[in-house]
Amino acid sequence: MILIKLGGSVLTDKSIPFSFDKEVTRRLSVELTEADDSVIIVHGGGSFGHPGAERYGLNTVKPRDIPKATAQVQRDMRKLNRIIIDIMIEEGIHAVSIPGGTVTKYRDGNMISFNEDIFMDYLSLGTTPITFGDVALDEKRGVTICSGDDIMARLAPLADRTIFVTNVDGIFKNGKTVDVFTEGMLPLTTEDMHRDKECIDVTGSMERKLKLMLNMSEHCETYVVNGLKPGRLNSLLTNKKTSCTRVER
Ligand code: IPE
Repeated sequence: MILIKLGGSVLTDKSIPFSFDKEVTRRLSVELTEADDSVIIVHGGGSFGHPGAERYGLNTVKPRDIPKATAQVQRDMRKLNRIIIDIMIEEGIHAVSIPGGTVTKYRDGNMISFNEDIFMDYLSLGTTPITFGDVALDEKRGVTICSGDDIMARLAPLADRTIFVTNVDGIFKNGKTVDVFTEGMLPLTTEDMHRDKECIDVTGSMERKLKLMLNMSEHCETYVVNGLKPGRLNSLLTNKKTSCTRVER
């Protein structure tokens, strides 16, 4: 199985609420159809998820106005998911929606349970599970944000290959992308982290993301690839050489 995270910054413009890039999503969907193995897709919140999550402090220990926040941010994420699912089905992918908040449970911001069976069951039906960052129940806080990256970490042990599709060419070290990123290259400079300060991202730092990828690389091949460059995702999915970063511990 190939596990793919379609980052919110590829599918949406995080600086404009509810913006969505239909063309990029359609092209990536077409690229996905040629994968040489079964696929599970995780997508981020981008311009649909992060503004609401930030407004209500959903990633903090004391989220505000929990009923309203939960309803609205879940609705916003399902809107984004519905648009993505529609495009994928149009392109021939048998996409099945599994909202992250329905398969996870948290305690004080940490995931304490995850239903992986549902992913395997839908895969064995011949469908393509599509899950996404969401608002999830939290035993201590009431609710919290379940990020797409948290879900990636839980599914990685079941995957052969993991691909993070982003809006940059890979991981940067000293101003250049590297073919292979290893733990010894940490820490990165702020410049290398390449974070767009204009954008809201409630689910964490680049440092956290890199550590997560290093952990995942112990289970499966782990790559970071630019989804805005046509053909690169497709090359990784068909085992061809392409410009990307491979993460290795
Ligand atoms: C965030 O998911 C979900 C919400 C804010 C509700 P991610 O953290 O996986 O999203 P991106 O990829 O950074 O946009």
